[in-house]
This record gives sequence, structure tokens and C-alpha cells, in this order.
Amino acid sequence: MPQYAILVQPSANRVYSRNAARLTRNELLGLDELLLDGRLRALGGPVERTMGGVPYLVVPVAAPEPEDLRVLANLSSLFALFELRDDGALVPLDLERLDRYDDDLLTILKYVGKTNEQLTRLLLNLTAAAATTREGFLGSRLRVLDPMCGRGTTLNQALMYGWDAYGVDVDRRDVEAYTAFAARWLQDKRLKHRSGSTRLRVAGKTLGRRTTFTLAADKELFRAGDVQTLEVTQGDTLDVDRMYRAGFFDVVVADAPYGIQHGSVTGPRTPSRAPGDLLADALPGWVTVLRRGGALGLSWNTKVLPRQDLVAMLVDAGLEPLDGDPFLDLAHRVDQAIDRDVVVARKPR
Ligand SMILES: C[S@@+](CC[C@H](N)C(=O)[O-])C[C@H]1O[C@@H](n2cnc3c(N)ncnc32)[C@H](O)[C@@H]1O
Repeated sequence: MPQYAILVQPSANRVYSRNAARLTRNELLGLDELLLDGRLRALGGPVERTMGGVPYLVVPVAAPEPEDLRVLANLSSLFALFELRDDGALVPLDLERLDRYDDDLLTILKYVGKTNEQLTRLLLNLTAAAATTREGFLGSRLRVLDPMCGRGTTLNQALMYGWDAYGVDVDRRDVEAYTAFAARWLQDKRLKHRSGSTRLRVAGKTLGRRTTFTLAADKELFRAGDVQTLEVTQGDTLDVDRMYRAGFFDVVVADAPYGIQHGSVTGPRTPSRAPGDLLADALPGWVTVLRRGGALGLSWNTKVLPRQDLVAMLVDAGLEPLDGDPFLDLAHRVDQAIDRDVVVARKPR
């Protein structure tokens, strides 16, 4: 039977404290369950194997469809993909990733409190996969909200995939730094775009300041109106359901404050609170702006909020957390103050 061998990015092991192969395996099994009808697991699933002293994930694939390969190509920690021949030879495969811009979009900004890019991609992949089909994942323009977007790691990843990216963050410096970065990057890359800023007023109350970019990967797309939206609002995440209409988003993804040095920024209606309290208050609004059948994905610090408590909050908010085994084995240590976990939940249709 044909097999693929996945080489995991060497840097991923530093990020995930040696958990990269396990996390990649579970991400792959999650995408398989959500987008590939569990075909890969049925064939024995990915197994770790060391070849030439280097660890790989080996995936039996029977008669792979080209679209399956396109899904695999977007795995967050994939460095290279090979066909593994019966004689042990590794033949490199060309990958058709969703990525449509230079990868410095994801890497230029460096700052304390940045969510790791691979973890962000894993979270977005699994959440988007829970919200759509294989064809939707590979071919539609999903509308993604990060309601605690910081300096835009999720937004950049969504843009990279050709999706629409919306962010809200209470921290003025973060929002201004991100907006300045986006304007500069679009200019440097000579990408056709438009932008505008406005004060966001709803029912006589100012909710924050909003900047909207409209952009396309090339002039023809821009002229044809085939454009992506990037919109960032400086404001309180508790107001999200007043900023956007109900059901507006396919996907909501956030890396919640860790409750340590750069956590729990004080917002107008959030006098420095524990991450758990903030999430409990924010979740109803996030669920309102999520469309039926859409999905919410969160990463957070389990040292300040146990998994079972967050899962109970998601259920209270009317969501259905995914509980297949790949989704329950994504926890990893970041440092001595942070054990991070990931949860994905669907809004029922
Ligand atoms: C872990 S950081 C997210 C970092 C982001 N993913 C990035 O890579 O830049 C959590 C974010 O939550 C934001 N936050 C905390 N309370 C908030 C609130 N009430 N409304 C909006 N954002 C809030 C913080 O300002 C911080 O940027």
C-alpha cells in the first residue's frame, strides 16, 4: 500500500517541548476525521518512525485523492512530505498549500506575548475543518474572527489562506502596532488594496476604533472585486455582538490571556479579571456572532483554568465540544507558568 512520510519542522519541537510529532499526529487525525471521512485512520493512521536517525510520521494512504494531499499540505508543522516506497526510498512530493502570500506575513512581527505561529495554524486548521467540508476548507473564503487578536497572528494566518480576517482587541498599542504593520506590509508587497478607519458607534455609544483593509493577491482579482477583508477593531471583546451581526462568522478562534505577565488586560468593562471569568462573560457574545454549524477554537493556559471548567462553559454557551480522541490530546507545556491546551466546539445547526 502507498505510504506518505511527513517530516515535521525541526523548530516545532522547540515550540512544543518535544511534543511536535504527537501534536502533528493528532492534528492530522483531527483533519482526517473532519475532512477525509476518517480514511487515514481506517488504514492504520499515522505512526511515528525513525529513518536515518530522523523521526517521521508515516501515513498509509491506499488510493489517495489529490484533494487529500492538499489537506495534508496545510498541516501546521509539516516541513516536507515524501512518498515512502516499498524499498525504503523517500520521494519528495510537490505541495499545493493554501498559502497565497510570502511567509514573512507570519514571521516579521516579533513581540512578547505573540502566540506561536504553528500553534495558531493548528488551531485555525482544526476549527475551520469543524466548520466546513473538505471542499469548503480548500476552496471557499471563510470569515474568521479572533476576538482577542493581539497583534494579529490569527489574522495573518487567515489572510495567508485567502480567507477574511476580523480581529478585536482591547489593547490600543497592540491594535495600532498591527494596523501599522498591515499597512506597511501591503505597501511593501505592492498588493492592491484600499483602507479606511472610523470610530465605531452603536446606539450612541462609541465601542472603539476600526480599521478596514480590502485587498487581493493580484490586480486582476482586485479589479474583479474578488477581494479579502482584513478588519481590526480596538475595543472590548464583550461588545463583539454589538460590533457584528448574529451569525456573521464561520470561525471564531482565539488564544486566551494566560493569566500571567501579559494576561488579563483591563478593558472598559473588564476590570482586571481572571481569564476564566473573562471567557465566561465573553462566550455568549462570541457564540451569537458565529453562524450555525460554525466552530469556535480556543487555546488557553490550563494552570489557570482546568479543561473541564472551560468545556462546561462552552456547553453552557450552547456549543458542542469535539470529543474524539485526537481533540483530547493536544495539551503541551509552554514554560513553567503555562500548560497550554486546545479545544474546538461546534455551534449546532
Ligand atoms: C494571549 S494574547 C493573544 C495574542 C495574539 N494571538 C497574538 O499572537 O498577538 C490575549 C489577548 O487578549 C486581549 N484581551 C484581554 N482582555 C480583552 C478584552 N476584554 N477585550 C479584548 N481583548 C482582550 C489582550 O489584549 C491580548 O492581546
